Amino acid sequence: MMPAIAGRRHRLHFVIGWFLLLASPSLSLAQADGEDGPDYSRKGADSCFACHDDQATLAVFRTPHAVPTDSRTPFGHDQLQCEACHGPGGEHAARVRRGQERPGVIAFGEGATGTVAEQNAYCIDCHASDTGLGWHGTAHDDDTITCAGCHTSHAASDPVLETSTQAEVCFDCHQQQRTQSLKPFAHVVDEGKMDCGSCHSVHDTTFDAMLVRQTLNQTCHECHAETRGPHLWEHAPVAEDCSTCHEPHGSNHPGMLTMRGPMLCQSCHSQAGHPSLAQDSDSLPSGIASQYLLGQNCMNCHGQVHGSNHPSGSKLMR
Ligand code: HEC
Ligand code: HEC
Ligand code: HEC
Ligand code: HEC
Ligand code: HEC
Ligand code: HEC
Ligand code: HEC
Ligand code: HEC
Ligand code: HEC
Ligand code: HEC
Repeated sequence: MMPAIAGRRHRLHFVIGWFLLLASPSLSLAQADGEDGPDYSRKGADSCFACHDDQATLAVFRTPHAVPTDSRTPFGHDQLQCEACHGPGGEHAARVRRGQERPGVIAFGEGATGTVAEQNAYCIDCHASDTGLGWHGTAHDDDTITCAGCHTSHAASDPVLETSTQAEVCFDCHQQQRTQSLKPFAHVVDEGKMDCGSCHSVHDTTFDAMLVRQTLNQTCHECHAETRGPHLWEHAPVAEDCSTCHEPHGSNHPGMLTMRGPMLCQSCHSQAGHPSLAQDSDSLPSGIASQYLLGQNCMNCHGQVHGSNHPSGSKLMR
């Protein structure tokens, strides 16, 4: 797919070059309808306006794609304008006989009939360096979802690029994360202070779960530097993986914990060390009216759960 398109573009530039040399120098867009070449419209956007001049379509002129002075953009000098993204539209824009079906162009979104690769090829043709090497082989690879699945091209501002609106775009496909983000304890993505992109790099990473840093912990340390070791007294699971105890997208437990206080700790620490069953004080055997339990939470004593730098902090108590 890709090489074919690159080839066609080359040919087109070549043709335009000849037109520019031989014909009117004011010609901004030429028809490149060769023997076997693609069939572009005669007048570029002007051809399309005959039928598509609604506000939604015209909004494309308020985007960074419509900078005539920037020859890299679709509306730059010598570029194919609408057809830079929608592909050759000569036949589509031409008159059709009654009863005859209008040939299509590349369309995006729900009505799209072309494959994902076809929809992405024109975007990638110009944006190979933005989407990066990481694009191929990630879960958002061009075999699975389209650029237009996240990006809106006919809008003055693209919602996926704005912190306050990005999550909604992602939630379209990621329902589980939507549910989690609505839980009482969550990162503030739903309020627009952070976005999914604070932790994920959606098209330019080779790291697991498309994280912005190589490991999960390094990703968290970007903002929570205080939890980064080395500590004099490490707490093994912290140095290993924050998500053993925290659910990064949100949870029902304070501190975005994966489980409630004592249960979380007891999922690894035996109850034999000191009594730690969640009993009420009446049921306690006298003598060990346990201070360990009254607090109901190991953190009341072992407050330095992320590690301690105190000389006598080996039990993570100071
Ligand atoms: C003569 C009228 C006419 C012209 C000129 C025209 N179109 Fe269309 N276009 C249509 C019609 C009619 C449809 C709806 C087709 C359908 O629903 O099957 C359409 C649909 C589309 C769609 C949406 C396809 C979809 O499946 O939702 C795109 C994108 C499009 N045109 C782009 C262009 C571009 C780019 C140009 C200029 C190169 C252009 N059109 C020129 C009549 C035209
Ligand atoms: C003819 C080349 C070309 C094509 C085709 C093209 N783009 Fe672009 N695009 C550009 C240029 C140039 C910029 C501006 C880059 C800059 O300012 O650094 C841009 C900017 C963008 C931006 C950033 C917008 C912003 O608000 O900052 C996004 C997102 C984008 N393009 C996505 C797409 C998608 C999706 C497609 C396919 C539907 C596409 N582009 C097709 C050339 C192109
Ligand atoms: C899963 C959603 C998603 C998909 C799919 C996606 N993008 Fe993006 N894109 C983003 C987000 C989010 C950003 C904001 C920067 C970032 O986090 O990397 C972005 C940024 C960009 C930018 C601006 C880069 C800059 O630094 O200004 C361009 C250009 C772009 N995308 C092009 C594309 C192209 C081309 C495709 C298809 C190959 C594509 N994107 C697919 C979500 C997506
Ligand atoms: C940068 C690439 C790009 C350029 C340039 C571009 N489009 Fe689009 N077009 C898209 C994408 C992507 C969509 C899907 C909806 C969206 O992202 O806003 C779309 C959607 C459409 C639709 C269908 C709208 C619908 O209801 O689904 C029409 C019609 C259309 N474009 C016509 C045009 C015309 C006419 C031009 C030139 C004036 C143009 N486009 C320029 C990328 C582009
Ligand atoms: C059009 C649908 C769609 C949209 C929109 C979308 N994704 Fe995805 N995403 C997928 C699919 C499909 C997968 C692969 C299957 C899966 O893991 O669910 C995926 C996987 C992921 C993964 C897991 C990657 C891995 O390697 O395990 C992350 C992280 C992710 N998406 C983040 C995002 C973010 C952030 C956004 C918004 C900027 C977003 N997605 C928007 C469809 C989408
Ligand atoms: C604070 C960092 C952070 C933020 C913000 C964040 N994520 Fe994640 N995400 C992670 C981590 C870490 C993982 C690795 C798996 C795990 O532990 O859940 C992950 C995994 C994922 C996965 C893959 C889940 C799986 O089961 O494979 C998807 C999809 C995803 N995130 C989507 C999103 C979306 C959408 C947003 C924005 C609403 C978002 N994330 C915001 C940190 C974050
Ligand atoms: C882009 C910055 C950023 C990144 C990256 C980040 N966080 Fe956060 N985190 C925040 C902010 C901001 C808060 C809210 C702080 C506050 O309310 O004082 C927060 C709060 C928290 C809280 C406390 C929540 C509460 O209810 O008290 C936990 C736990 C947490 N983050 C864990 C993580 C984990 C685990 C990761 C890595 C997967 C991570 N964070 C990555 C910015 C970040
Ligand atoms: C062994 C379990 C465990 C691990 C692993 C863990 N934490 Fe925590 N974390 C906790 C507990 C317990 C709290 C207190 C929660 C509360 O508010 O009740 C907490 C609280 C937090 C808070 C809230 C502010 C604070 O310091 O009280 C942040 C931020 C945080 N953790 C980040 C991280 C990061 C980043 C990592 C990985 C480097 C990590 N945690 C690993 C158990 C853990
Ligand atoms: C994922 C398993 C895991 C979880 C959950 C966990 N820990 Fe640990 N903890 C460990 C490991 C492993 C060690 C190191 C044990 C060793 O060195 O003998 C440790 C060490 C400790 C120590 C120091 C013990 C000593 O002998 O020096 C304390 C205190 C401690 N944890 C308290 C807690 C508390 C409080 C919680 C709940 C907030 C908790 N742990 C949750 C695995 C866990
Ligand atoms: C009232 C304070 C207090 C509470 C509450 C408490 N601990 Fe401790 N914990 C201690 C003290 C004091 C030690 C040190 C005992 C020693 O040095 O012999 C200790 C030691 C430990 C150790 C080290 C191994 C051992 O048994 O000596 C672990 C692990 C531990 N506690 C886990 C927990 C867990 C899990 C909880 C919650 C279920 C918890 N603690 C609640 C005070 C407390």
